[in-house]
Amino acid sequence: MSTPMPHALPSYLDPANLGPWGIYLEQVDRVAPYLGRLGKWVETLKRPKRAMIVDVPVELDDGTVAHFEGYRVQHNISRGPGKGGVRFHQDVTLSEVMALAAWMSVKNAAVNLPFGGAKGGIRIDPRKFSTAELEKITRRYTSEIGIIIGPNKDIPAPDVNTNAQTMAWMMDTYSMNEGATATGVVTGKPVSLGGSLGRVEATGRGVFVVGCEAARERGVTLQGARVIVQGFGNVGGTAARLFYQLGAHVIAVQDHTGCVHNAKGLNVLALLDHVEKNGGVAGAPDSESLTAEEFWGLETEILIPAALEGQITRHNADLIRAAIVVEGANGPTTPEADDILASKGTIIVPDVVANAGGVTVSYFEWVQDFSSFFWTETEINHRLEAMMRAAYTSISAVAREHGVSMRTAAYIVACSRILEAREVRGLYP
Ligand SMILES: NC(=O)c1ccc[n+]([C@@H]2O[C@H](COP(=O)([O-])OP(=O)(O)OC[C@H]3O[C@@H](n4cnc5c(N)ncnc54)[C@H](O)[C@@H]3O)[C@@H](O)[C@H]2O)c1
Repeated sequence: MSTPMPHALPSYLDPANLGPWGIYLEQVDRVAPYLGRLGKWVETLKRPKRAMIVDVPVELDDGTVAHFEGYRVQHNISRGPGKGGVRFHQDVTLSEVMALAAWMSVKNAAVNLPFGGAKGGIRIDPRKFSTAELEKITRRYTSEIGIIIGPNKDIPAPDVNTNAQTMAWMMDTYSMNEGATATGVVTGKPVSLGGSLGRVEATGRGVFVVGCEAARERGVTLQGARVIVQGFGNVGGTAARLFYQLGAHVIAVQDHTGCVHNAKGLNVLALLDHVEKNGGVAGAPDSESLTAEEFWGLETEILIPAALEGQITRHNADLIRAAIVVEGANGPTTPEADDILASKGTIIVPDVVANAGGVTVSYFEWVQDFSSFFWTETEINHRLEAMMRAAYTSISAVAREHGVSMRTAAYIVACSRILEAREVRGLYP
């Protein structure tokens, strides 16, 4: 008899090379002891409900025909339709899309959005194709996955290398096939096509809101508090500006061009302007440059990783002297670094909560599309702040109740909500 595997793996995955799906399975195992009677349903979380692989044939500009691999995975739809982005990247794999879909289930449930988790991708390097070719690839992919997406089934959104234009093409293709305009089939659309105000800033604003909640809980006064930010794009730039406008001192920023520092606080508005003109923070006026090591070692009240995954590792976690880490990026902290920071008493507001502002405003976009009634930016920001604050408060309470990290607490809350829905719906047939 062969040795039983720790997980009943689907046959289409290689047990020796599980990729991101393996990381996700470990996370589920960690939370399983806290699920109580709902543990009966935990296997539900360990496999996607539906995974679709499609061939995307397209005639290229030079007249040749190329075939691309496309995916759409719906990890769980017990709490509502699937929701999650579409990524164009040459390294996209089924394992990756499965894990990203599962993390969307967790994120949507952690913030209590009425969505399940889904994700899609096409295995291409979009820089190698013309706009006309990308449009054809997007349209054919949308048509192929058209039988499983829809405003009530699964709602894609932008992710790595896709944007509002990609969503406009997806919406148009789906609508053409249906014979009726269906704005609610995707979110992250241009505002002229039923997109939502406030979407661009939503993730950074959510990071700011939960950062303020964590500071309040920790007794940190934000006026004059020191904040450092890695990544000064959509998420990091917005969060830095909001902390700056509240009176915090953003003393250092790192991006792909280097690190800039001013112990008295950088002028974030001037820095945004500098990045707009020069493509990065390097050489910003009224700042000195720092090495990456010096950046991580700065004593601060708040550290916001908002660039890439895997940035806080066992190699730099020891250096970190931040009271609170707010994860703007997806997966910026490795599990080893998590343990090191926890042993120092650092509070980590995990990505599944901290950067959920984007999908929250996507939810608002979907609701507005259904009612064909659009809200003001002030209303949107107000509702976003209320939902982010409520998510933080409920997860922080669970962390205190079980004596666990905010990350584990977020998984307990999210997985319990998903499995509760699973249980009350009952097993069909
Ligand atoms: N934009 C959203 O709505 C959203 C939602 C959820 C999660 N996220 C996550 O937030 C992160 C940032 O997304 P974004 O939309 O702000 O991207 P972006 O492209 O606007 O900005 C990325 C920033 O990271 C910096 N960067 C890149 N490589 C770096 C490196 N090696 N070292 C230091 N800095 C580096 C870039 O210079 C840039 O300032 C990603 O992990 C993304 O998945 C974004």
